[in-house]
Amino acid sequence: MKKEQVVNCQFSVWYSLFKKHTIKSVILPLPQNVIDYLLDDGTLVWSDDETTTIVTAPEFPEFSSRVQEAINTLGGSVFPKLNWSAPQDASWIALNSSLRCQSLTDIFLLFKSSDFIAHDFTRPECHPVQLVLRKWSELIPGGEFRCFVKENKLIGISQRDYTQYYQHISKQKHLISQSIQDFFTSHIQYKFLDEDFVFDVYRDSWGEVWLIDLNPFGEVTDSLLFTWEELISGCNLRAQPVEGGAPQQDDLAFRYTTSEVTVQPSPCLSYRIPRDFVDLSTGEDAYKLIDFLKLKRGQQDEESDEDA
Ligand SMILES: Nc1ncnc2c1ncn2[C@@H]1O[C@H](COP(=O)(O)OP(=O)(O)O)[C@@H](O)[C@H]1O
Ligand SMILES: [Mg+2]
Repeated sequence: MKKEQVVNCQFSVWYSLFKKHTIKSVILPLPQNVIDYLLDDGTLVWSDDETTTIVTAPEFPEFSSRVQEAINTLGGSVFPKLNWSAPQDASWIALNSSLRCQSLTDIFLLFKSSDFIAHDFTRPECHPVQLVLRKWSELIPGGEFRCFVKENKLIGISQRDYTQYYQHISKQKHLISQSIQDFFTSHIQYKFLDEDFVFDVYRDSWGEVWLIDLNPFGEVTDSLLFTWEELISGCNLRAQPVEGGAPQQDDLAFRYTTSEVTVQPSPCLSYRIPRDFVDLSTGEDAYKLIDFLKLKRGQQDEESDEDA
């Protein structure tokens, strides 16, 4: 995989190409002092009686008001991410256990708890780092699909949440596959900067298809119900038997979880054990926890202000 393939998949690049077909979003540059704060593991302040005094998170008045303005423009709730990654491994820390954010404090809490976000900061090809705020949309996992494109041809579609069996997917497989193929030919094909790539879509309850994300074609992207060997060679993609014997479209393989017995452990399960508590128990990462507590307290203060 070429470096450009990765660079082309950063949010600002693909969003400018496919704005009309994806969720409304705002991109904000991250000021250096905010980056420093996000990378900082926190500062311990000891009071005279040797108990820990937890200081509140620093304030970034100008940045904070730009973020709040963007959140308001997007309807009051957002899904936050950086150029590449969303803090999906950190949803457990949020009061609502979701990535839905209403303030900069909510975003900081997720970002400081996420290894995925920390990883984006360390990738030289990710710079400059940008904050991406997307209008919050309740996406039903059974409506999400990942699509593999090789030489500008759609060769495979996989159910995204493959750990679950969804009856509507097996019932409507032809319709789903056709609507994604149509979306691809009308809006995506030949319009991206590479000829090999992976795109994620959401098919809403009216049958309309939306672009969710763009990813590089290669090992860095989860191949879900395919293997990268299969996708790269392009051979035997349609080896999965099709119920009812109806022919699949030429060269396009649609894979989904076929019955309740095949339900697999969720790949996200390993993220549900708070990584930082593990670190804490081994004495390595006390500062991170202190940061969480500061942010949590900030959040609670905000809430009690609202109640008042
Ligand atoms: N605007 C949004 N509102 C709510 N949930 C979202 C939104 N955008 C994405 N999601 C959910 O988050 C998941 C990951 O989003 P994505 O942008 O692909 O992040 P990443 O590239 O880090 O995996 C999606 O599969 C979807 O379930
Ligand atoms: Mg993604």
